[in-house]
Amino acid sequence: MYKLEVKLPQKSYPILIKRGIINDIGNEIKKVFNNKRIIIITDHNVQRIYGEALSENLKSYGFEVNTISVEAGENSKSLDVLTDVYNQLLDAGMTRKDMIIAFGGGVVGDLAGFAAATFLRGIRYIQIPTSLLAQIDSSIGGKVAVNLSRGKNLVGNFYHPEAVYIDPDLLKTLPERFLHDGMAEVIKYSCIKDKELFNRLREINTELDLFTIINEIIYSCCNIKKGIVEKDEKEAGERMLLNFGHTIGHAIEKAFNYEGYTHGEAVAIGMYCIVRKSESMGITKEGTSDSIKELLVKFKLPFELPKIDFNILLEAINLDKKSESESINLVLINEIGESFIKKIEKEKVAQYLFS
Ligand code: GLY
Repeated sequence: MYKLEVKLPQKSYPILIKRGIINDIGNEIKKVFNNKRIIIITDHNVQRIYGEALSENLKSYGFEVNTISVEAGENSKSLDVLTDVYNQLLDAGMTRKDMIIAFGGGVVGDLAGFAAATFLRGIRYIQIPTSLLAQIDSSIGGKVAVNLSRGKNLVGNFYHPEAVYIDPDLLKTLPERFLHDGMAEVIKYSCIKDKELFNRLREINTELDLFTIINEIIYSCCNIKKGIVEKDEKEAGERMLLNFGHTIGHAIEKAFNYEGYTHGEAVAIGMYCIVRKSESMGITKEGTSDSIKELLVKFKLPFELPKIDFNILLEAINLDKKSESESINLVLINEIGESFIKKIEKEKVAQYLFS
């Protein structure tokens, strides 16, 4: 088992990574929660495969367990679904002493985390992420949110869980496209902070190779994220490094109405484009974009910009909630593993992104 501790001024919490941890999760949860009532928030897909086993295991440790299951997919991060979740929490008689478990991918983690942050002015929650993206990124660091019709994650908070339990075996039932979606963020971590991880990814040739070292990969990513969040919890500086590839990535997702590309696929294109450009400007070591491309292709991720008017992408970039009024913080790399933030005036941003 790998164990990390996210240490923040107001709160610390463990991240446990272990194959099969889900099969005796009640034993772990007893260590961080000594009350009885738990509500699992999940989606229909995860519920169908793992819901009963999780609930039975918790009951066998004396917990009273209820489940709220929502439709799988981004549409569940809405105010309507959130209201429904609040009502079900009330129906179940949840109090501030009780616990929510967010059991699912990024959508469930964000929705359940935001419900926990706001219900009765805040109750405790635990993250049990089931997608690779959630296991290495969204379950750690306390970002919770729902969407508005005018944009993603526009209502949210930083609200940390009591613990994060990661079971890499859960990834065996994840559709291939979503495994690769998560791999884009793994590649991102290696590009911004970890050349050794990048080289390990280059040695993977088959899915079996990937699953053989998946625990170590998840650990490396969580360790990077933990370190960054500890230094910059509220994204005033270093945490922005996690947005490498996301400036173009978010714009592509938006331009295609969040339907054409998964988050990871859009970020893959974003990483390749910005590095190809920064390489041609002499900022990034020669050959870097080719080695990133090689990895993206290996994990069946796209790298080329879709055929779309640049102005549509630029407009989305300028409206992104992470941009400031006159400038944008771009994440660039000098070489694999060495990243930095450069503030660019909005009118000059295209020069750094598009060839
Ligand atoms: N997913 C990026 C962050 O947590 O800051």
